[in-house]
Amino acid sequence: MELKGKHIILGITGSIAAYKSAMLARLLIKEGAEVQIVITPAGKEFITPVTLSALTGKPVVSEFFTANDGTWHSHVDLGLWTDLMIIAPATASTIGKMANGIADNMLITTYLSMKAPVMVAPAMDLDMFAHPSTIRNLEILRSYGNIIIEPAEGELASHLTGKGRMEEPEKIVAQAKDFFRQHQSLANKKILITAGPTYEKLDPVRFIGNYSSGKMGFALAEECAARGAEVILVAGPVSLKTSHPNIKRIDVESAEEMYNAAVKSFPNTDAAILCAAVADYRPTVQAQEKLKRKSETMILELTANKDIAAELGKIKNKNQRLIGFALETHDETANALKKIENKNLDFIILNSLNDKGAGFKYDTNKISILAQSGHRIDFPLKSKKEVAADIINSTLLI
Ligand code: PMT
Repeated sequence: MELKGKHIILGITGSIAAYKSAMLARLLIKEGAEVQIVITPAGKEFITPVTLSALTGKPVVSEFFTANDGTWHSHVDLGLWTDLMIIAPATASTIGKMANGIADNMLITTYLSMKAPVMVAPAMDLDMFAHPSTIRNLEILRSYGNIIIEPAEGELASHLTGKGRMEEPEKIVAQAKDFFRQHQSLANKKILITAGPTYEKLDPVRFIGNYSSGKMGFALAEECAARGAEVILVAGPVSLKTSHPNIKRIDVESAEEMYNAAVKSFPNTDAAILCAAVADYRPTVQAQEKLKRKSETMILELTANKDIAAELGKIKNKNQRLIGFALETHDETANALKKIENKNLDFIILNSLNDKGAGFKYDTNKISILAQSGHRIDFPLKSKKEVAADIINSTLLI
């Protein structure tokens, strides 16, 4: 009964694989889930609402209104009720509508109103699955954070053989259970994350900054929040948005502001992941008026900023984890190990500007995780979302 108490919407669309949805609903219920079916008009051609409502014990939702009594079915309420939406089978047409927000039936409006994560199990003929528009639409759904349950290879309804068969109900249930296991993995944890660059003011129009976009730190914040943690995200000046309600965002500009916010928040947390590219120095004097060009050279005096990581390393208690980052250009490992020691970190995430696709601005990163114990894991180039998952799995969940 691993899904006990979970509210799951099972979306069914017009594919022959809809016959498997009855079994899927049955298996979800056997695991303790409460299942609400939302079916498209085409879906009803393949499996009857009577079969489905008999299995789930709930009327099937298909239309915006019930014709005989005028009851309005609220897709917004469904969005709020749900812990997980599974669309199985998902036809090429539904996938296209989801990707493009074409809300012409109850299933798509429910999808667009969804606050819970969404799993999509495509089912179609092999050529439709391989078509560039399907590939592109699935890519768009992935970029929305939807989880695609890859179809299996085998004999299709057309009697052709290839990839496009909806995954078997048992395997979809296994993925749903895995999802909830992972989803809860940071429940009741509070995590502090720093992200982005800092700007150190020189005068009212200029600053010393760096190329950090905030993408790596924001990916960590989203992933921790998605796994149930309460996240305090101290963000330098970036243009990124946060979407998860578990993220409390504190926007700062300078290293000093980031230091104050981080040091204040840290005592109430279970861990801190310091991903920000913090300026080591700031101009000693911040001019009140715009500096004018006077001579061919100009000497700028800088003063060291406080080191947030080192301060947290001093005040951390034995139950707190402290994870730093090191962005290096040379002697990568030696420099990262020095930082572990100097800042009293439990782990350091090493990324090098010598690796293509790693570091600032990219949507990807290539990291090594070095532990205070001397243990080291090297990872290949991955999306920053996947890198965030690797960091969480290897530093917070061991
Ligand atoms: O934001 P993106 O474009 O996605 O890029 C991500 C990233 C490259 C910025 C990120 O992956 C990264 O490597 N961040 C650390 C950048 C860095 O240069 O760190 P550092 O070697 O200067 O500092 C080591 C550690 O001490 C870091 O955890 C840093 O946050 C921390 N530090 C440094 C100075 C300071 N005054 N206070 C700190 O807390």
